[in-house]
Amino acid sequence: MGIINKCLFPVAGYGTRFLPVTKSIPKEMLPILTKPLIQYGVEEAMGAGMAGMVMVTSKYKQAIENHFKVHIDIEASIKGTAKESLLDEVNYASEQCDFSYIEQEKMLGLGHAIYTGKPLIGNEPFAVILPDDLCANDGDSVLAQMVKLYQQHPDCCIVAIEEVLMTEVDKYGVIDGGLLKNSTNAYRVNSMVEKPSPEDSPTNLVIIGRYILTPEIFDVLESTEADENGEIQITNALMTLAKQGKVIAYKFQGKRFDCGSVKGFVVATNHFAKIEGLI
Ligand code: G1P
Repeated sequence: MGIINKCLFPVAGYGTRFLPVTKSIPKEMLPILTKPLIQYGVEEAMGAGMAGMVMVTSKYKQAIENHFKVHIDIEASIKGTAKESLLDEVNYASEQCDFSYIEQEKMLGLGHAIYTGKPLIGNEPFAVILPDDLCANDGDSVLAQMVKLYQQHPDCCIVAIEEVLMTEVDKYGVIDGGLLKNSTNAYRVNSMVEKPSPEDSPTNLVIIGRYILTPEIFDVLESTEADENGEIQITNALMTLAKQGKVIAYKFQGKRFDCGSVKGFVVATNHFAKIEGLI
């Protein structure tokens, strides 16, 4: 077993920005070319050494569970044809990983979604991937880079960050901190704020959807109060740990596409289509 064995995917949200398609299709099942976002996320977690995929899901998202199950009829229909290999990657994920599902009954924020996964995570460090944030790399994936950093700081939570325009900060959690000794890309976080206005934002270093969390986060989430929208924010829970010097922000190498927005989704599609020589 690796140092981090489980990855949690908060996938219960309604994906209203993509209506009408998300009326019946989970946004995590929207494809970049032919592969759904959730599969990119699962493959990234596998590449970082994880085999326990914990989906915090909703009753409307059965398609995600179906995607990682063998489909006997389709298998039979493509067997022996040129299309046979098209299911290889997803079948490999299904074979190698243990998928477990837990329902988030109320949409009370990302912190609440993560807390909902507690019974399936237990008392061990774990990763979180928000499949909306699609990351592409030539070398190690973003999560694999973070696991390496975590090995040097096993009592810290790690968040992936990138620099954005100051006008964009209000879509994200923002961090402030100082570079670790001898590092050019890892910061000891001293403050974090969720979706500040550009005027109030301490920096333009924003959190993207990759986290490594120590199990201590569950106790902190229990006592983290909901914000003015009634949501429990992971950023606020992490702020409690940041005050104790236990949060590191990592400026990753690679590209991140915001597939939670239609524009970002199109940019990602074009990026992958170019790689495949389709455009
Ligand atoms: C969530 C987090 C935010 C983070 C973002 C990354 O926001 O609350 O801190 O920056 O994911 O994608 P959401 O996009 O769910 O509103």
